[in-house]
Amino acid sequence: MVNVIGLGYIGLPTALMMASHGVEVVGTDYNKELVDTLNAGHTTFKEEGLDELFAAALKAGIKFTNEYQVCDTYIVSVPTPYDKLDKKIDPCYVVAACKTVLSVAPKGATLVIESTISPNTVDRFVRPLLEEAGRGDVNLVHAPERIIPGNMVYELLHNNRTIGADDPEVGEAVAKVYASFCQGEISVTDIRTAEMTKVVENTYRAVNIAFSNELAKICRIGGMDVAEVIRIANKHPRVSILNPGPGVGGHCIPVDPWFLVGDYPETANFIRLALQTNASMPEYVLQRTLDAMKEHGITDAAKVGIYGLTYKEDVDDVRESPTLQMLDSMEEHLCGHAVKVYDPWVERDVVPNQVHSMEEFLDGLEVVVVMVGHSQVKGRPEAFGNRILIDPRNVCGDGEKVYKL
Ligand SMILES: NC(=O)c1ccc[n+]([C@@H]2O[C@H](COP(=O)([O-])OP(=O)(O)OC[C@H]3O[C@@H](n4cnc5c(N)ncnc54)[C@H](O)[C@@H]3O)[C@@H](O)[C@H]2O)c1
Repeated sequence: MVNVIGLGYIGLPTALMMASHGVEVVGTDYNKELVDTLNAGHTTFKEEGLDELFAAALKAGIKFTNEYQVCDTYIVSVPTPYDKLDKKIDPCYVVAACKTVLSVAPKGATLVIESTISPNTVDRFVRPLLEEAGRGDVNLVHAPERIIPGNMVYELLHNNRTIGADDPEVGEAVAKVYASFCQGEISVTDIRTAEMTKVVENTYRAVNIAFSNELAKICRIGGMDVAEVIRIANKHPRVSILNPGPGVGGHCIPVDPWFLVGDYPETANFIRLALQTNASMPEYVLQRTLDAMKEHGITDAAKVGIYGLTYKEDVDDVRESPTLQMLDSMEEHLCGHAVKVYDPWVERDVVPNQVHSMEEFLDGLEVVVVMVGHSQVKGRPEAFGNRILIDPRNVCGDGEKVYKL
């Protein structure tokens, strides 16, 4: 039996996927409300295909509880934030979950950490827990997750995976559990390589996004259209530049690369600069907005609205979202609290002045900052009427009143 610990964006779909592919699974989360919601037959976030997967897993007998179980395999999928001061990983959730696992795990159990962790986290923070508890019999494994919100169900089935283990035989045994549903290639390696590989993948993305964001700024100064420059440059057989945007959000790309900066501050200069470049983008979009307002003689913040609160299109996750970062800067420059915000994917109230329908949102607005290209508006600038559009995602096409990055 597998006990999945932490039923958030990663743990829940993983548990459901395993259960619906014949693995006996119990999902554990210390959040009582979350477990009650699941036990009442409802999923806890919106994701393409998740409800169908949930139904299949319920039919297969998955259980949800607040209690850790006695079983042979534990998969820990709890948050791994970074300490904003020293930029190092904050392992407190992983440590707490592993401690509890060790208090219930039977002899010879396998403890799989699926959370993203910085290189050496297992050696520095988890292995000592085993030593303190006298639990040298427990097998340690790191199996990082790569799926992207918005396409989680497909990617769980099709992505390649990495399994890091002290003992290759244990690694292969855990690979078999994942192979119950994973059709991708599963590479078995040691724990430190698995830790580093996962962080490197997200750092690669952060650095490449930063490159395109910097190109956007250079093209703006030089009077060039960055989208057209990238489109043509990407015709080169060995060039593949990403799209620039209003910043980077979510639980991974703006967070994980800091682990390397925190642990290797003298060496990870290029990575630090990339993260700072991405972090500068919400403020850059705000400046574009202020310039457009000036050009049109608009001074009233109440005439400005932000479309999109999530960190990417067609998901409900607002963590580290560029909109939240921009609202902070707006407070300084433009009375952010007066700026209306609307996101069709976010029903709960996250910020002041958030409204819950497009009609209410557009009422009285002259300027819309399109921070997220949800399907509702992508390629459909008419959804905003004839308003001035600040379009850092490049989803509104060309037009006299459209301001790109
Ligand atoms: N969200 C993503 O897109 C994504 C993608 C790949 C990897 N990851 C990594 O996966 C890990 C989990 O991320 P997430 O987005 O699922 O986080 P999340 O915040 O959505 O979910 C974590 C869950 O763990 C629970 N929890 C925390 N401590 C616990 C404990 N001691 N016992 C039981 N439950 C506990 C919380 O209540 C929460 O429901 C992180 O390391 C993250 O970096 C996330």
